[in-house]
Amino acid sequence: MAEVRLEGVTKSFGGKVAVDNLNLTVEDQEFLTLVGPSGCGKSTTLRMICGLERATEGHIFFDGKPVSWLPANKRDVSMVFQSYALYPHKTVRQNIGFALKMMRVPKATVSEQVLQAARTLDIEDLLDRKPRELSGGQRQRVALGRAIVRDAGAYLLDEPLSNLDAQLRVLMRAEIKRLHVDVARTFIYVTHDQVEAMTMSDRIAVMRDGVVQQCATPEEIYERPANRFVASFMGSPPMNFVTGELADADGTRTFRSPALTVPLTGPTSPATLPDDPRVVLGIRPEDVTLSAAPVAGHHPGKVFVAEPLGPDVLVTVRIEGELIKARVPTPFRLGHDSTVYVGFTPNRLHLFAAADGTALHAPEREEHS
Ligand SMILES: Nc1ncnc2c1ncn2[C@@H]1O[C@H](COP(=O)(O)OP(=O)(O)OP(=O)(O)O)[C@@H](O)[C@H]1O
Ligand SMILES: [Mg+2]
Repeated sequence: MAEVRLEGVTKSFGGKVAVDNLNLTVEDQEFLTLVGPSGCGKSTTLRMICGLERATEGHIFFDGKPVSWLPANKRDVSMVFQSYALYPHKTVRQNIGFALKMMRVPKATVSEQVLQAARTLDIEDLLDRKPRELSGGQRQRVALGRAIVRDAGAYLLDEPLSNLDAQLRVLMRAEIKRLHVDVARTFIYVTHDQVEAMTMSDRIAVMRDGVVQQCATPEEIYERPANRFVASFMGSPPMNFVTGELADADGTRTFRSPALTVPLTGPTSPATLPDDPRVVLGIRPEDVTLSAAPVAGHHPGKVFVAEPLGPDVLVTVRIEGELIKARVPTPFRLGHDSTVYVGFTPNRLHLFAAADGTALHAPEREEHS
C-alpha cells in the first residue's frame, strides 16, 4: 500500500521557488505522471517524495503518515534517476543486487530477487555482462531492474527513457506500462514528453514554473484543458490558437477575428459572455476539415504547405493573415496556393480568456460506447 500525498509543498533554492504550493494525492497503485517543460520542478518534486530534498514548506504523507522528516533510506520508495549511471565495473547481476547487498539482505535472497527482477525485464541472459557490453535499451532495463528489485510501496521514475532513441523509447514505454500492471505498485513518473504522459498514465499532472496547472486523466487533459498552456503543451501537432473577440450576433454567440467568424452553437457556446470579450479560440488540427468545393460557413483559404505524416496529412492553410493547421486523411491532392474551404467541428472548439489563458469553455465529452 502506498498512497502518496503532498500538502502545500514548496521548495525554494535561495530566493527562487522551484515548486510552489503543490497539493497532490497519488492513489495507491496509480500511475501518475508529472509532465512539463524543462525547469518546471518535476525532478525537485520527485526528489522531495524520495527524501533526497527537503521541502521548504508543506508536508508529504505516505498512507496518511507524515514522512517529511524521514531520510530517503527509511522511506518505502525506490527511484530511477534521470541519469541512470550504472556501476561500470560491476556485472548486471551486481548492479541490480547492489542495494539489497547494502541492506545486508542474505546472499541467497539477493540472488533470488535479482533473478526475479531480471525475468520481469527479460534480461536474464545479460546478468553476467558489464554495462559497456549492453545496448542503451538493455542498460535502461538494468537501471529499472535496480529499482524494482526492491519491493517498495512507490516507484519514482525520473525521465527513465530520455537517453534512448525514438524507436526504443516507444518500445520501453509499453514495457514500463506493463511492468506497472505486473508489480501492482504506485508509480510516479516524470517526463517532458507529452506523448509518454498521454500513453502511460492513469492521471497526468501538468506543471509550469513549479505550479500544477491541471491534474486529471489523459482524456480529460486532452478534451478539457484547464488553460491555454495545458492545451498547447498536450497534443501533437499542437492546437491552433486564434486571438479575437466574443460577441452576440443575430442571437448567436460568435467568435470574431480579422480572419475568422465562427458561430459557437450548442455545447460550444459559453453560458455567459465574459466581462472581457478578448478571447483565444483553440482548435485541434484533427478538428479542422478541408474541402475543395465551397461549403456554407466554411472559410476560404489558400494551401500554404502540406506535410504527409503517413496515414494523415498535416495541411497548413492561410486564411487572411492566420495560419491554420489541419490534420486530414491521406491523400490530399490540392497543390500549394490552391483555394481550400476550412471548417471547424462545432462541438470541439476551445475558448480561453486572452488575458490569462483560463479556459472559458471546453467541449462536451462525447460518450464512447
Ligand atoms: N540544487 C539546486 N540548486 C538551485 N536550484 C535548483 C537546484 N535544483 C533545481 N534547481 C532549480 O529548480 C528549478 C526546477 O528544477 P527541476 O530539476 O526540478 O526541473 P525539471 O522539471 O526536472 O527540469 P528538466 O526537465 O530539465 O529535468 C530549476 O529552475 C532549477 O534550476
Ligand atoms: Mg528533471
